[in-house]
Amino acid sequence: MFADRVLSGMRPTGNLHLGHYHGVLKNWVTLQQEYECLFFVADWHALTTHYDTPEFIEKHAWDMVIDWLAAGIDPSRATLFIQSKVPAHAELYTLLSMITPLGWLERVPTYKDQQEKLSEKDLSTYGFLGYPLLQSADILIYRANRVPVGEDQVPHLEFTREISRRFNHIYGRESGFEGKAELAIKKLGSKKSKLYRELRNRYQEQGDDSALAEAKSLLDEQQNLNLGDCERLFGYLEGSGRMILSEPETMLTHASKMPGLDGQKMSKSYNNTLSLREDADSINKKIRTMPTDPARVRRSDPGDPAKCPVWQFHLLYSNDKTREWVQNGCKSAEIGCIDCKQPVIDAVLSEQEPMHERAKKYEEDPTLVRNIIADGCEKANQLAEETMRDIREAMGLNYS
Ligand code: TRP
Ligand code: SF4
Repeated sequence: MFADRVLSGMRPTGNLHLGHYHGVLKNWVTLQQEYECLFFVADWHALTTHYDTPEFIEKHAWDMVIDWLAAGIDPSRATLFIQSKVPAHAELYTLLSMITPLGWLERVPTYKDQQEKLSEKDLSTYGFLGYPLLQSADILIYRANRVPVGEDQVPHLEFTREISRRFNHIYGRESGFEGKAELAIKKLGSKKSKLYRELRNRYQEQGDDSALAEAKSLLDEQQNLNLGDCERLFGYLEGSGRMILSEPETMLTHASKMPGLDGQKMSKSYNNTLSLREDADSINKKIRTMPTDPARVRRSDPGDPAKCPVWQFHLLYSNDKTREWVQNGCKSAEIGCIDCKQPVIDAVLSEQEPMHERAKKYEEDPTLVRNIIADGCEKANQLAEETMRDIREAMGLNYS
């Protein structure tokens, strides 16, 4: 029932830069080889903080999708869509809001942190408070069990698991649950019924997690079980109700080591970025004007790479030989800073070359991007609908 499915989203708040590439996108590109992946533009999430600049949302969304494609996200492997084009996210958000204690939202650490950090904006809104719940809806609606995110999003995933458990606890109860679960066990056939019972006992009596995992994978392999029975058997392993929603696992994305042009972390708010599809002239100019070790006032003054942001780039892009050349040449003043920067310029340009190449057809023909997204939205709507049917029924809304 709960096949491995990866989901992640990104807010369309501006051009993606090389920090996003090295941190997030390279990771997505790897994941799409291994898993079913859903990647989406979190435009509603962008509005929770950027509600007063709606004019940028659409442009940023299309640009961001082109950046994804440029980075190597393959629409024949991953499903790409836009959150607001799958309105069921909003429906689930509303339904989950019924069972979400206010205190849980107020206690999510990003709530107060971001309000303080973005103090120029009024974020005492209902939408901003609800940010993590909207994220939960994004995840739970696809029963996504793997969610790659950065460290800052970990509390949102923890919150999502709590919401999922609360939902299952409230709506997974049904009269005669035990009897129905026992009947469902019989449908597994005698050999597998016996195995299921053994594993369940081992987990419940001895807390053996490997028995739980084995039982879950046994259930995952059952193809002729209907959804209701499947939910009962999953729920019966751990508790006394159906497991309607799954609990997503965090796949922690390691923070990007990408330095910015000034040596701080690369970030739009520090104005020190190289964007993913920046043109060669601009890359050249930006790197050539990068600050260097301030001790090197004249060409003949020796310097120390440890005090120079350019060195950070060599650590990311250069091989040992080049690094040695930098170390010796800088400390002895045998090379000038412009010489030193050239291999970095070359490396960034060659990293970007395939990205420009992949992006080209999409930049020239935006309908290609529109079509990819239209297909992705259709697929996402279908998948979302499968879960929503179950959720509406559980919450008394199936009006047959
Ligand atoms: N909040 C996430 C961020 O700022 C974006 C996001 C929205 C997301 N919905 C999601 C990430 C669902 C993973 C899963 O990075
Ligand atoms: Fe920096 Fe290279 Fe100049 Fe040394 S030579 S200060 S490492 S740019």
